[in-house]
Amino acid sequence: MQRRKLGWTELNLSTIGLGTWAMGGGGWKFSWGPQDDRESISTIQRALELGINWIDTAAVYGLGHCEEVVGKAIRGLRNKPTIATKCERVWDKEGNIFGRLKKESIRAEVEASLRRLKIEVIDLYQIHWPEPDEDIEEAWGAIANLIKEGKIRYAGVSNFNIEQLKRIQPIHPVASLQSPFSMLERLIEEKFLEYCSANNTGVIVYSPMQKGLLTGKFNRERVQNLPEDDHRRRDPRFQEPELSANLKLVEELRSIAENSGRTVAQLAITWVLWRPEVTAAIVGARRPSQIEETVVAGEWVLSEEHIAAIEALLDKRQKALNLS
Ligand SMILES: NC(=O)c1ccc[n+]([C@@H]2O[C@H](COP(=O)([O-])OP(=O)(O)OC[C@H]3O[C@@H](n4cnc5c(N)ncnc54)[C@H](OP(=O)(O)O)[C@@H]3O)[C@@H](O)[C@H]2O)c1
Repeated sequence: MQRRKLGWTELNLSTIGLGTWAMGGGGWKFSWGPQDDRESISTIQRALELGINWIDTAAVYGLGHCEEVVGKAIRGLRNKPTIATKCERVWDKEGNIFGRLKKESIRAEVEASLRRLKIEVIDLYQIHWPEPDEDIEEAWGAIANLIKEGKIRYAGVSNFNIEQLKRIQPIHPVASLQSPFSMLERLIEEKFLEYCSANNTGVIVYSPMQKGLLTGKFNRERVQNLPEDDHRRRDPRFQEPELSANLKLVEELRSIAENSGRTVAQLAITWVLWRPEVTAAIVGARRPSQIEETVVAGEWVLSEEHIAAIEALLDKRQKALNLS
């Protein structure tokens, strides 16, 4: 498994990291429908056996549940994987989720994550969303103090814009930016990659398969039959007019992938890793067989011809949706 150094830090991450959002289980606002914890634990353990050396999670996934599942899966392991988790999305008794970046809240969140994950120190602690914007400096200062106290090794952010990155950088150097990046979500290519490279900030990208849409295993019927509490039912990428264009794109990608003896899911992940500024992709899985398929995407290198052929398909989709 290829590894890349995360920005200026000492962390050497496998280019595929395991994403655990769906392992939060069902019944909360951003759930992915029902999920069996035993299946989640087997998936985590299989990912580590396959050479993945880090796991991305968040306090809010399953309102604390996902961190507990990760904690169970890694308990007793001699070689613990690098653990990246996130703060800022907090919730009340009714399960309403909101953003909070006050220093006392960050401290309480770190303690709660350490307890749920059953670890002594969090390797990479990330602010999930910059909300509320006016409190990002306060939260970042609190996180810098928690690094001094030894509860956190490195700190990064997620879903920040460049102006927000510039505001917090003088308080403490930013280890990494976590942003969405897939063939359907390319905002990061405009300025973010260049900024991070210039500042030696690591880049972690999420949803490389666009939440499963770019795997070749979705069709209209499956979208219609997603469980009621699977948040993808409300995601515009899974709804018309985008859905038809996205399913068509997947069919066209399939022939590129199959000509190289690969799958669409592998192609989607390899494509984001083609950018040298990207340190690693977080690849979500909820069953061992899923990560068994996608883990090899980190070993494949796309040719210039592949890149050009994919670019042409993406242009065609943009035009069909009147987006360009
Ligand atoms: N910072 C943030 O705001 C943020 C936001 C989003 C994600 N993330 C992180 O990034 C991770 C990855 O993103 P993501 O989970 O949204 O999307 P993703 O990695 O693009 O897609 C993951 C989903 O695709 C399906 N899948 C995975 N492997 C498959 C395979 N081999 N064949 C068919 N289907 C497969 C699974 O769902 P089904 O089987 O149900 O289809 C899986 O949950 C998350 O888990 C999370 O850790 C962070």
